[in-house]
Amino acid sequence: MQHILDAIQSNASADDFANLTVPSSYRAVHVLKDEQDMWKGVASKDKDPRQSLHVGDVPTPELAPDEVYLAVMASSINFNTVWSSIFEPVSTFGPMARLARESQWAQRHDQPYQVVGSDAAGVVVQVGTAVRNWKPGDRVTVHCNHVDDQDQSAHDDSMMAANQRIWGYETNFGGLADLAVVKANQLMPKPAHLTWEEAAVNALCNSTSYRMLVGRNGARMKQGDVVLIWGATGGIGAYATQYVLNGGGIPVCVVSSADKADIL
Ligand SMILES: NC(=O)c1ccc[n+]([C@@H]2O[C@H](COP(=O)([O-])OP(=O)(O)OC[C@H]3O[C@@H](n4cnc5c(N)ncnc54)[C@H](OP(=O)(O)O)[C@@H]3O)[C@@H](O)[C@H]2O)c1
Repeated sequence: MQHILDAIQSNASADDFANLTVPSSYRAVHVLKDEQDMWKGVASKDKDPRQSLHVGDVPTPELAPDEVYLAVMASSINFNTVWSSIFEPVSTFGPMARLARESQWAQRHDQPYQVVGSDAAGVVVQVGTAVRNWKPGDRVTVHCNHVDDQDQSAHDDSMMAANQRIWGYETNFGGLADLAVVKANQLMPKPAHLTWEEAAVNALCNSTSYRMLVGRNGARMKQGDVVLIWGATGGIGAYATQYVLNGGGIPVCVVSSADKADIL
């Protein structure tokens, strides 16, 4: 993996990236299928993700035509990751087994392990044969909406598609790893003024708040709307507060301490 990092840090050309060897395995944060019952009878608050999350090598899957290999420079932890790690409300190996029944490519997701993580920023290393808009060496950030274009309902609202999933939560090969497998339609250019870490923390919470409050499939907030935001300094809440203020609404924010009120 060092040769990929060297290429990123030396601003190698697209051709140089395209010629890099993708290793046959990579380091990843993962949970194990044969540990999915490890917390049976344990209260949620006593489930310690440090016992279920493993850091170690997993095999590199083959690349589907509509996917890219991403060299991950930064990722982030969301509630998804916490849920996967405590196998609540359900083990995520169930959704991946259902995904595997969809197609030959989808079968790759049903493994004895799951690489978790639903946000990432990094550099495209290789692109699948059907990828048109991205090339090796592109610096990108990733949104977690894992959806294909064969369900017509997705053309109106991708969240309503029959096979909509959250990448790195209901799919394998997520972002908390040196390498990730990402559908090309999940990629966005990395804003040049953001660090890798800054670019890797926006997509999941930001897009969720935007959809709920602003987007045409959500509340379609208008100037003057009063919006109750519970947990207003959290990931979702902090974006929601900014969208309400920016859109001319009145946020009514609930937080649990004076310190958090000061942050707002
Ligand atoms: N696409 C989606 O559907 C989607 C995407 C992202 C997140 N989510 C969900 O949205 C929720 C928030 O996610 P997040 O990333 O914003 O999490 P977060 O950053 O941890 O923020 C959650 C906030 O909830 C508050 N809170 C914690 N325990 C509480 C309790 N028992 N009662 C009331 N408030 C409590 C906390 O604020 P105070 O300490 O100030 O109360 C905290 O700041 C999670 O359930 C997550 O799974 C859904």
